[in-house]
Formats: sequence, structure tokens, C-alpha cells
Amino acid sequence: MNSSADTPGASGPLEATLASERERAVTVFQGIQDEAELRRVRATFLGGKGSIKDLMKQIPSVEKERRKEMGRSINALKQWVEQQFDTALAALHHARLEQALGASVDITWPGRTPATGALHPLTQVTQELVDVFSTLGFDVAEGPQVDLYEYNFDKLAFPPDHPATDMQDSFFVRTDAPKTLLRTHTSTIQVREMLSRKPPLAIVSPGAVYRRDDDVTHSPMFMQLEGLWVDKKVSFTHLRGVLDAFAQSFFGPEVGVRLRPSYFPFVEPGAEVDIACIFCKPWERNAKRTAQCRICKGSGWLEILGCGMVHPEVFEHVGYDPEQYSGFAFGLGIDRIAMLRYQITDIRLLYENDVRFLEQF
Ligand code: DAH
Repeated sequence: MNSSADTPGASGPLEATLASERERAVTVFQGIQDEAELRRVRATFLGGKGSIKDLMKQIPSVEKERRKEMGRSINALKQWVEQQFDTALAALHHARLEQALGASVDITWPGRTPATGALHPLTQVTQELVDVFSTLGFDVAEGPQVDLYEYNFDKLAFPPDHPATDMQDSFFVRTDAPKTLLRTHTSTIQVREMLSRKPPLAIVSPGAVYRRDDDVTHSPMFMQLEGLWVDKKVSFTHLRGVLDAFAQSFFGPEVGVRLRPSYFPFVEPGAEVDIACIFCKPWERNAKRTAQCRICKGSGWLEILGCGMVHPEVFEHVGYDPEQYSGFAFGLGIDRIAMLRYQITDIRLLYENDVRFLEQF
């Protein structure tokens, strides 16, 4: 046997027990999920019948000169066991607290933004158009989508046999009388406003219209914006001025306007209006680019609306004196303008409500 001075704590059965109990204390508390169990294990060291009590009892049997040291070693083991127990108990309490608080949150992470919707591209374009015309002095007037045949055609001076009045082009609504349909254009609102108001008036009317058409550039439901300005001495020059101002504030200051004579029953004279192509920009005089432009097909112009001076017959139908008043009207396709602006090639995309499409606006 070695002397206690050389290898203290490892020179007899007592020392061996001390060492093995010390080692046991390192692992025995680990993984215990229950406080009572922890305390029970602690008692196997420190309880009345625990190993430490046992060791104490053995001190008198140790040689006298080593007793003091033995006592110190046993005390050290006792402290060691208490320490292991305290650590295990603290860990258990911490785990319980964590569980009660739920998953931990790192507050430095960026927040989760809820997915918000956006306005439909047609609504965005409509609002912009209304903004531009409001600035020019127009009020907004709206009307019903189901309207009288009389307002849609007769009052607008369509002759009874005009091809646009054909059963094939309109969606009729079954009523006993009067003849009713889904309006085929927003020009009905001209009639409604003039019937209910005295001149002067300046209105724009956006809204949905319906025709029996369905292909890449035609949808059975589409959107128009109607304009009407009636006052004393309103001339074609005013119409031209409003169209120029509209085109320049909506499409850009360089964008010119061209009028071509055309026919609509409710205006005289009537015209179709083109804007300079906003894709090949003919004002920049790059003839090659314009020649190759797929959008305007090389012409340098894009058709955007119909217009004209209100026909005297229409004034008569609504009770305005055509000798005293004059006015201009115009109608544009909101879908067409949205398609031009965003280069959309199939009108149906605007009405299918596919989020993968709509998310892009
Ligand atoms: N209502 C016509 C259409 O649907 C568009 C139109 C042309 C409206 C000329 C007007 C106008 O007010 O003056 O095609």
C-alpha cells in the first residue's frame, strides 16, 4: 500500500469509495425529469442511510493521523454532490420554465409581413384616367350596367337597322317591356346625365360594358370610359385640346395625337383618335425601330378612342336646344389602354383573376 502522503485519497477502501461516489455523482443526476426522483437520488449520498453517512461512520477505523484528511475528503465529496444536485435541479427548473413560455422567439429577426392585396390593373388605370380628367374639369358620373335599349341605341340616334343594334351583338335581358340589355357602351350615361341635368356639364363615366365577343382582344365584358362636355360655344378645338392634354398627361409630354374622320351615329363630325406609338416612340425619329414595331405594326400610331361633336339629334332627344348648346363626346377602352401600358397581349388575362398574373401590378 502507498502512503497517504504520496497519493492522498487513493490508498485504501475508503479512498476507493470516495472516488467512485464522486464519479457516480457526476452522471447519476443527469437526464432525471422529475424533482422527487432527483431528491431521492440525492438521498443515496446525503440521506440518513446514504453513502456519505456511511463513509463518516468509517472514519474512526482509519489510522489516527489520516482521520482529519479523510474528514476533509468526505466533506469535499459532500459539497461536490450538493453542487451536482443543485446544477441538475436548476436545469430541471429552467427546462420547465422554457416549456411554459413556449418556443423561444428571436426578436431581432425581420417581421413576417402579411400578404396584402393590391388594386386590379384595370382599377389602377381607371383611377389614373379619372385623375387626369378631373384635373381638366370633368366630374365622374356612373350608370347601371343593365339599361334600356332606348338609352343604349335610340336616344343616341342609332338608326333601327344599325348593325350594332343586332341581336347577335348585345346581351338582351328578358323583360316584358321595355326592351332591356346589358349596356354595350358607356355612352348610355351621356343620355342619362343629359336627361337629368341642365347644361353646362362635363362628365367622365367609367364602367363595365358587354358584347357578344370573345377572343384574344375581345372579352364579353370589358371596360370603357365615356366623356361628355356640353356648354354654349363648345367647339372641335376644345375637343382637340382636351385630347392633347389627356394624352400628354397620361402617356407622356411627347406623345402626340392624330384624328381620323370616322362615323358614330351620335356625333357629327366623328373621329377616331390615335396616339403616337409609346413603344417605338416615332418622335425620336428612329425610322428603323418604328418600321419593325410589332405593337403599332410599323405605322407609328395606336388607336385609343372614338370621339366627335354631339349630334343635334341627340340633343333633341334629351331636351337640350341644339341651337343654343354644343358639345363633344368621346369613348375609350380602358382594357385597351391597360393592355398598351403593360404590354398585355391577351385581354382574357384581365378577367381570369389568376394571382400569378395580378401579383405583377
Ligand atoms: N360608344 C362607342 C363604342 O362603344 C365609343 C364612342 C365613340 C363614344 C365616339 C363616344 C364617341 O362618346 O363620341 O365604340
